[in-house]
Amino acid sequence: MTIIAGQTVVLTGASRGIGVFIARALAKEKATIVGVSRSAEGLDQVSAEVKALGGRWLGIKHDLSQLEDLPNLVQQINQFAGPIDILINNAGIEIYRKFQDYSTAELQSILTINLLSGMELSRLVLPKMLDQRRGHIVNIASLAGKKGNPYNSVYSASKAGLLMWTDALRQELADTGVGISAICPGYVSGQGMIADTGVPIPKLAGASQADDVAKAVIRAIKQNQAEVIVNQDPITASISKLLMAVWQVFPEFGDTVYHWMGVGKLNQLRIENQKHVALKFSESKSMVTATTPKTNER
Ligand SMILES: NC(=O)c1ccc[n+]([C@@H]2O[C@H](COP(=O)([O-])OP(=O)(O)OC[C@H]3O[C@@H](n4cnc5c(N)ncnc54)[C@H](OP(=O)(O)O)[C@@H]3O)[C@@H](O)[C@H]2O)c1
Repeated sequence: MTIIAGQTVVLTGASRGIGVFIARALAKEKATIVGVSRSAEGLDQVSAEVKALGGRWLGIKHDLSQLEDLPNLVQQINQFAGPIDILINNAGIEIYRKFQDYSTAELQSILTINLLSGMELSRLVLPKMLDQRRGHIVNIASLAGKKGNPYNSVYSASKAGLLMWTDALRQELADTGVGISAICPGYVSGQGMIADTGVPIPKLAGASQADDVAKAVIRAIKQNQAEVIVNQDPITASISKLLMAVWQVFPEFGDTVYHWMGVGKLNQLRIENQKHVALKFSESKSMVTATTPKTNER
């Protein structure tokens, strides 16, 4: 889809972090943005920015973990914003734990928000896109889906699933006019879930900015790119790509490099520093009963 102006774009996880930067980039492209997340306050703040940049905005407060409510969400979007041209599955959570310490509810929550909600939304919007022979889906994955992250293993599994599902669906969608892209940011500094942990990024891993991820999303849509790695600069991104390929063949070599970079040690620190994540999780659970989506104005 070479032109984003005037397209209706659903962006999940629009209330904070990287989602805000994607919303700004879409606003500059003059898209109509439907921002979805649980925080009405966050959505309202983004609404003001999007409008100031010349974009159109509809914010919908919705808990994506409630998969059975997603048909209502899509129906509401169709009613208030028209058919969905572009879907960006950006919402995500991570919970750092030793694997055996995860609760069943935490396993379900990570996999549902990071993987199943994007699948379900795509399943619901694809028939219309296929009828129109146009549309695009963007899945925000992670380098953690390319090489397992110790003490964040369920997040890694969710992102690996997202990548492999995108890869398979892209082949199904060939020649339909509907595109699909996966974006794999490495560590993002300054904004977002990694910055929120307050634990430094491993030296030598490279770090990108949320704005780089947003630019990659716009490029991926316009050029129908299959998979994009976003890291510090194009050279670091190319090195990451090469290393991920080598580690597919020699996984123990990858383990050694991660150990040397201190990935596991830093993630163990994140277990201690993630009280805010636990809070987000309990907020998510307490909102299970609040299923009636609330819209705010365009
Ligand atoms: N930050 C990084 O370094 C990094 C690196 C690689 C990949 N990524 C990926 O980039 C994406 C965005 O991450 P981020 O860093 O911006 O994270 P973030 O700052 O924690 O923001 C997460 C977004 O997801 C939304 N969300 C979470 N649970 C939700 C639910 N149940 N229903 C609806 N919305 C929900 C949050 O909104 P509410 O809380 O208001 O619901 C928020 O808008 C994620 O998919 C993440 O895995 C991030």
